[in-house]
Amino acid sequence: MSFIALSAEQAAVFEAIENTREHVFVTGRAGTGKSTLLNHLNWNTEKQIVICAPTGVAALNVGGQTIHSLFRLPIGLIADHDIEQNDATKKLLNTIDTLVVDEVSMVSADLLDAMDRSLRQARQKPHVPFGGVQVVLFGDPYQLAPVPGDPQERAYYEDTYRSMWFFDAKVWQEAGLRIFELAEIHRQSDPVFTHMLNAVRHGQVDAEIGGRLNGYGARRPLPQDGAITLATRNDTVTRINSTALHRLAGTSQANEADVTGDFAGRAYPADLRLELKVGAQVMFLRNDIGGEGVPRWVNGTLGTVTRISDTVSVDVDGEEHEVEPATWEKFKYSYDPRTKKLAKDIVAEFTQFPLRLAWAVTIHKAQGASYDRAIIDLGARAFSPGQTYVALSRLTSLEGLYLTRPLRPSDIIVDDDVRRFMESGPAPVEE
Ligand SMILES: Nc1ncnc2c1ncn2[C@@H]1O[C@H](COP(=O)(O)OP(=O)(O)OP(=O)(O)O)[C@@H](O)[C@H]1O
Ligand SMILES: [Mg+2]
Repeated sequence: MSFIALSAEQAAVFEAIENTREHVFVTGRAGTGKSTLLNHLNWNTEKQIVICAPTGVAALNVGGQTIHSLFRLPIGLIADHDIEQNDATKKLLNTIDTLVVDEVSMVSADLLDAMDRSLRQARQKPHVPFGGVQVVLFGDPYQLAPVPGDPQERAYYEDTYRSMWFFDAKVWQEAGLRIFELAEIHRQSDPVFTHMLNAVRHGQVDAEIGGRLNGYGARRPLPQDGAITLATRNDTVTRINSTALHRLAGTSQANEADVTGDFAGRAYPADLRLELKVGAQVMFLRNDIGGEGVPRWVNGTLGTVTRISDTVSVDVDGEEHEVEPATWEKFKYSYDPRTKKLAKDIVAEFTQFPLRLAWAVTIHKAQGASYDRAIIDLGARAFSPGQTYVALSRLTSLEGLYLTRPLRPSDIIVDDDVRRFMESGPAPVEE
């Protein structure tokens, strides 16, 4: 495992989390190193820390537990219903110093308020936000939105909250979170490109910026090999991958994942049945942990399959690597009465080659990744807030940007509530 040295602003946020008990929201544009900082915190904190995330896959990616299973919350709206807590849950919630929530932009106001209520109840501190636990939230609301519920849920939000977003939760005002907005972008180095990405993020793409993005993206022939397609729709991705796999000579070989324990949520981190052929374009789904020193690949790295046997050989930039199956561990925190500390146990495991076919992936699945070259396919239209921003901000440079059709103003969608909150709230990190 290689560790990146934190920048000054990342280090300042780490110190603030580590040396105070303040509640913190860490945000920042794509590529400012939020995930890098969370990872650093996980490995370096002295506190009793628990990491959780709103979805199963997000939790697996950060080595945490889902919010619902950690707090034993029912699915759907919680509203003002009683929260049931058994002894084990109470003890666990009493042991936490710091609760870290990743991908907080997918956490609804109702869920954040339920977490607050649950902590107050377990810790018997009915008047203290989060029952006195330090809460640290990570996420960029310009990238991913909470999943809208059914009509009843939406009606409840209309009556109860200003919006579905976590920052409109009741506890948000009361807890007074300190907001750190990381400013320095590490993924891109060209200021012209980051300026354009910023305009896309904020819905301020004028004719000049639009023309320049399209000038790079839509006026050159699409590359015929090697570049990944980022598409809005699942069916586009499946079609591109199966057509390309089919076109390759030879027969495909499938590897079934080995699943033990309870994956009831079906949140598998990779294909249950992975079909590969020599020549297939693949993407790595995890960081390299086998090698020493510089990692040979990270989550999102692209390569080509060169040999399939008990292991799979993958060519990455002209170098061949032997890839072993990887195991994703589903964790569950508990209270250990002997040590009076948190214990972190493995409750399920999923073993598969950390690879997925990658002539194409959905923009949603490309979240968090970096690419030097990509073809962006917005189909008939981009349909969710932040979608076009997430797609474009995966690229490390303008030279690598290809579009299947020119961007249109309607592809750039910014959520009004996010704009309201982000334009009034966050201030840059003071070092
Ligand atoms: N201090 C640092 N020094 C060098 N590289 C860094 C540093 N912090 C982050 N990076 C690199 O910059 C890239 C983006 O970082 P990271 O994925 O943590 O950003 P992010 O804010 O989580 O982005 P996104 O919002 O797109 O998920 C990664 O390749 C990462 O390795
Ligand atoms: Mg990230």
